[in-house]
Amino acid sequence: MRAVKRLKAIAELINLPSGVVADIGADHGYLAKLLIEEKRAKKVLATDISSLSIEKTRNLSKRYNLEKQIECRVGDGLAVLKSGEVDLAVVAGMGGYEIIKILEKGSPKVDHYILQPAQNVIELRKYLVSHKFKITKDFIVKDKNKFYNTIEAKKSNRVQKLTPMEIEYGLTNFDLRSEDFRQYLLHDIETRKGILKEKKSVPLEERLARSEKILFKLYEGESHARNN
Ligand SMILES: C[S@@+](CC[C@H](N)C(=O)[O-])C[C@H]1O[C@@H](n2cnc3c(N)ncnc32)[C@H](O)[C@@H]1O
Repeated sequence: MRAVKRLKAIAELINLPSGVVADIGADHGYLAKLLIEEKRAKKVLATDISSLSIEKTRNLSKRYNLEKQIECRVGDGLAVLKSGEVDLAVVAGMGGYEIIKILEKGSPKVDHYILQPAQNVIELRKYLVSHKFKITKDFIVKDKNKFYNTIEAKKSNRVQKLTPMEIEYGLTNFDLRSEDFRQYLLHDIETRKGILKEKKSVPLEERLARSEKILFKLYEGESHARNN
């Protein structure tokens, strides 16, 4: 199974043993299988815009005899769901703008989401906050040398106030202080330094300084204090 850790991170946020979860853009179907096997949902509505992709989920559910628990549907985003039909929707492995489009077209149907964008996470966070979603969890997972932001968001009736740093780096990374976030910061710092060697850029220098400051504050400052 590909990239197990990032899918497990999604699964661990879901605890609906008698509930229904939609997996929008299910493709291979690994998440649907994981959710059923770990009893994190009673039923998964696995959807995909591509009939070829959803065929992979269908084949997987047949192979593991999970056809009753995994229902496959073809269609765009949340259009294939009825209002109130699912307790939670996962949208993972698409770009941030693609996820925004999906939410824009259909979000009244579902109140609770787990989102794992492949890129443009800052734009997605800004969209969520400005559209009265409350981000309850937002953290980085490192899986096979790639970093995945994993966001839990719920509909709310007020605008959540996040700091610019929380929008840029993800709310719960600051509390979790995970090893994956530390590695993300180190990777970010090295990448920015590499680019800055080639050409000067004030925004890049500022980003580098922010990442270095967070790294020191969350990890190195503490170990420095402990060692003294
Ligand atoms: C890279 S795969 C991600 C699969 C899985 N969710 C994951 O995280 O590993 C993206 C899948 O999303 C599907 N997709 C893209 N846009 C979609 C949309 N608007 N509605 C439903 N599925 C979509 C694609 O066909 C593809 O199968």
